[in-house]
Amino acid sequence: MTSRPVIDDLSNFWMPFTANRQFKSAPRLLESAKGMYYRSTDGRDVLDACAGLWCVNAGHGRDEIVAAVQKQAATLDFAPTFQMGHPLAFEAASKVAELMPEGLDRVFFTNSGSESVDTALKIALAYHRARGEGQRTRLIGRERGYHGVGFGGISVGGIAPNRKTFSGALLPSIDHLPHTHNLEHNAFSKGQPAWGAHLADELERIVTLHDASTIAAVIVEPVAGSTGVLIPPQGYLQKLRDICTKHGILLIFDEVITGFGRLGAATASEYFGVKPDLLTMAKAINNASVPMGAVAASRTVHDTIVNAGAQGAIELFHGYTYSAHPLAAAACVATLDLYRSEGLFERAASIAPKFEAAVHALRDAKYVKDIRNLGMVAGVELEPRDGAPGARAYEAFVKCFEAGMLIRFTGDILAFSPPLIIDEAQIDQIFQTVRNALASIQ
Ligand SMILES: Cc1ncc(COP(=O)(O)O)c(C=O)c1O
Repeated sequence: MTSRPVIDDLSNFWMPFTANRQFKSAPRLLESAKGMYYRSTDGRDVLDACAGLWCVNAGHGRDEIVAAVQKQAATLDFAPTFQMGHPLAFEAASKVAELMPEGLDRVFFTNSGSESVDTALKIALAYHRARGEGQRTRLIGRERGYHGVGFGGISVGGIAPNRKTFSGALLPSIDHLPHTHNLEHNAFSKGQPAWGAHLADELERIVTLHDASTIAAVIVEPVAGSTGVLIPPQGYLQKLRDICTKHGILLIFDEVITGFGRLGAATASEYFGVKPDLLTMAKAINNASVPMGAVAASRTVHDTIVNAGAQGAIELFHGYTYSAHPLAAAACVATLDLYRSEGLFERAASIAPKFEAAVHALRDAKYVKDIRNLGMVAGVELEPRDGAPGARAYEAFVKCFEAGMLIRFTGDILAFSPPLIIDEAQIDQIFQTVRNALASIQ
C-alpha cells in the first residue's frame, strides 16, 4: 500500500483524551492495518501491543469480518429496532448470549462502553422499581474505576481528572469502594495478588452507612484497565458478590476490556467463577470494526422489568437509534464465529504464561517499580520523574512508537493488551522495545 502525504490541516478534529496542541505539533498517524501491525502514514510497520484500544482481539483487517460488513452494507444499511427488527440483531444477541455466564442471556445492544454502562445503571434502577423498591437509587462504584464518559459512568467512576470539571453535575447518591492498588503488599505479583480481599468488606461499611434499602447496584471492572491495570486480589470479587447477594444489591461487572478473550476465557466472570447480575461489554464484541456495545442481563433482572409492564406497553424507556445496527450486528456475528473457529480465547490462555514471563523480565529495567498481569493484559508502573508526573510514560510511549510499536500509557503506567493472535517472537519484541525505550529516556 502506498503512503499518502500527511494532511496539512489537523485543526478541525478536536481529538478525544488527547493533548491536542502537543499532538498536532508532532502528529502520529495510522493509515492501514493488518494482523498484528498498523502502518503509519510515514510508511512504517507498527506492532500493535494494545489491540488498538484494548479492542481488536482477533487482529486487524480480518477477511471474514470485512466481508460480513461489506455484504451487510450492500444488503441492509440500516433498520430501526424500535418496534421493528431485523434478523441479524437477534442472531447477534443469541451468539453473545452463548458466551455469557449461565443465565445472563438477555442482551441489550448499545454503541459503546459508555452507553453500556449507563444502560446497565438504568436497568438496575428499573429492576428495583419494577419489584416495588423504587427507593433503591444509590449506585456504588470504586476509586480509580473507569466506566466511560457518560454522566453515569463518570459518577460511578473513580478517576479524578475525568470527574473534576463536571463535579457539580455528577449523579447524586453515589458512593465509592476503595481501590485495590497497594505496592507495599502486592508489587510484582504475578496474576492475582494474595493480599487485599478484605478491601471488599468496605462494601459492608458503605451498606451500613446508607442502608441496603437505598442501594441499587455496585459496579466494578473485574480487572481495572484504564486506570493502569489493577488485578483483583484473590477472593475479592467473590466477597463483593456475597455482600451484594446478602443485601439484595445488583452486581454489575464492567467487562468492556475483559470481555471476549482478554483473560483467556469468554468473560472475566467465567475466568474468576463469579457471576454478576449485569455485564457490560463493547470493544472486542465485534473486533472494534463497527461501534457496538451491549449489556447482558440475568433472566431475573430482565423478566422482572419486562413482566412488570402492561401488555402492549413499552417496558423499558431506553434505547439508541443504532442499537443492533445491521453493520455492527453483522460484524459481531462474524467476529464471534472467528473467535470460536480459531479458538482465540484458548489461544490467549495458552500463550498467557509466556506473556507473563516476558513482562516480568522487565523487573530490572530502568524506572520500573511494579509489574502486574493477568491473561493477556499487563501493566508496568514507572517511577515518576520529579515534578513531572506522567512525562516519563509519555516519552516511553513516543519512543516505542518511533521504534515501531504502539502501547498505551496512563499516568506513569504503561499498559499492554495485544491482539490474541500474537506469537511468542512478537511478545519478546514488545518487551525488548520497552526496555530500550526506558533506557533511552531520562
Ligand atoms: C471498563 C470500561 N468501561 C467503559 C469504557 C468506555 O467505553 P467507550 O470508550 O467505548 O465508551 C471503557 C473504555 O476503555 C472501559 O475500559
